[in-house]
Amino acid sequence: MIKNQINNLKNEAIGEILEAKDGKALEEIRARFLGRAGKINELTREIPKLPKEERAPLGKLLNETKLTVEEALWQAHEKFQAGKEKKEWFDVTLPGQKPSLGHLHLITQATREIVDIFSRLGFKWVRYPEVEWDWYAFEGLNMPKNHPARDTLETYFIEELYHPKLGKGVLTPHTSSGQLREMEQTKPPIRMLNIAKCYRRQSDVSHSTMFYQFEGLVVDEKINITHLKGTLDYFFKQFFGPERQARIRPFHFRFTEPSFEVDVSCSECHGVGKQEGGEVCRVCKEGWLEIGGAGMVHPNVLRNGGIDPEKYTGYAFGWGVERVLMMKYGIGDIRLLFDNDLRFLEQF
Ligand code: PHE
Repeated sequence: MIKNQINNLKNEAIGEILEAKDGKALEEIRARFLGRAGKINELTREIPKLPKEERAPLGKLLNETKLTVEEALWQAHEKFQAGKEKKEWFDVTLPGQKPSLGHLHLITQATREIVDIFSRLGFKWVRYPEVEWDWYAFEGLNMPKNHPARDTLETYFIEELYHPKLGKGVLTPHTSSGQLREMEQTKPPIRMLNIAKCYRRQSDVSHSTMFYQFEGLVVDEKINITHLKGTLDYFFKQFFGPERQARIRPFHFRFTEPSFEVDVSCSECHGVGKQEGGEVCRVCKEGWLEIGGAGMVHPNVLRNGGIDPEKYTGYAFGWGVERVLMMKYGIGDIRLLFDNDLRFLEQF
C-alpha cells in the first residue's frame, strides 16, 4: 500500500519537474515534495507505524525516491541555468565600444613641435626656474634697478623672497632669464631652447597673466646676424609652411645690441600687403605679422654670464608659444587656450 504511494509520489514529482517552466516553479516543487512539511517527509513519518519487517525495505525505497527527485530537480535547474547563459552570450567578434580618448593640450602639442624643429638645428631643450631672482630677470640682463625698460614687463614681485646678492624674488616675466642661467652652466658653444611659463600683469584677447614663452640662445665664435636670420627663416618655414619668411626690424631691448622685432610673412598676401584685386590685405594690412623680439646678445650680458665678449658673440630670440599657435590656427582669443572647454579643444 505505502509502496504504491511512494512510487506514485516519485512519478508525480518527476512529471511536474519535467513540465516546470522556470526556476521558480522548481523551487515550488522542491518545497512541496522535499520540504520539511513536504510529501516525502509525510510518508517518512508513516514508516515507524509499519510492521517491523516492512520498515527497512520501505525506508530504503523512500530514501531512493528522495534522491531521485533531488537529482531530477538538479538536472532541471542546470537546464534552466544553461538557457539563461545562452541568452547572455554575445558575439566576441563584434567591434567593441571604443573608450573616448583625449589628446595632448594644444600648447603641449605646439611646445613639442617647437622643440622638435629647433632640436634639428642642435638646440638643447632646457627649463629654468619660474620663480626667479631679480638678477636673472632684470639686472644681469642689463636692466638696472629703476630702469624704465622694466616697466614694460609688468612683473609680479614676491614680497617674501629676497636674496642679498640676487635681489627680489619675481615670477619670470620672460624666458630671457634662462640666458644667464644657461651661460652659468654651459661654456660655448651654446645652443639653448628655454620654454617656460611667464607671468605679467596683463589680460585681454591676446594677453593672459600666465603664458608660455620660448627663448633661443646661441653663443659661439663668429656668430652674427645672418645666423639669427637663417634660424628664424628655418623655424617659420617648418612651423607655418614652406612659403613663409622672416623679417627683422630695428628695435630696442636692453639685453641685445642690435635688437630687432621679428615678423613673419602673411599667409594670405605673402608680404605684399595687398589682395590680388589690389585692396589692402584683410589679414595683415601690410604684408607682415609681428611675432616677437630678437637680437645679438649684449656684451654686458655675456660678461654677466661669465663669457668673454671679445672672443664670443651670440644671438637670442624669444616670444610666446600661444602667439605662434594662434597665428597658425587663426585663434582670435588667447583665453580659449586656458578655458579647457572641450568643444574648443576637440577641434585639434
Ligand atoms: N624677452 C623679450 C620679451 O619678452 C623678447 C626677447 C628675447 C628679445 C630675446 C630679445 C632677445 O619681450
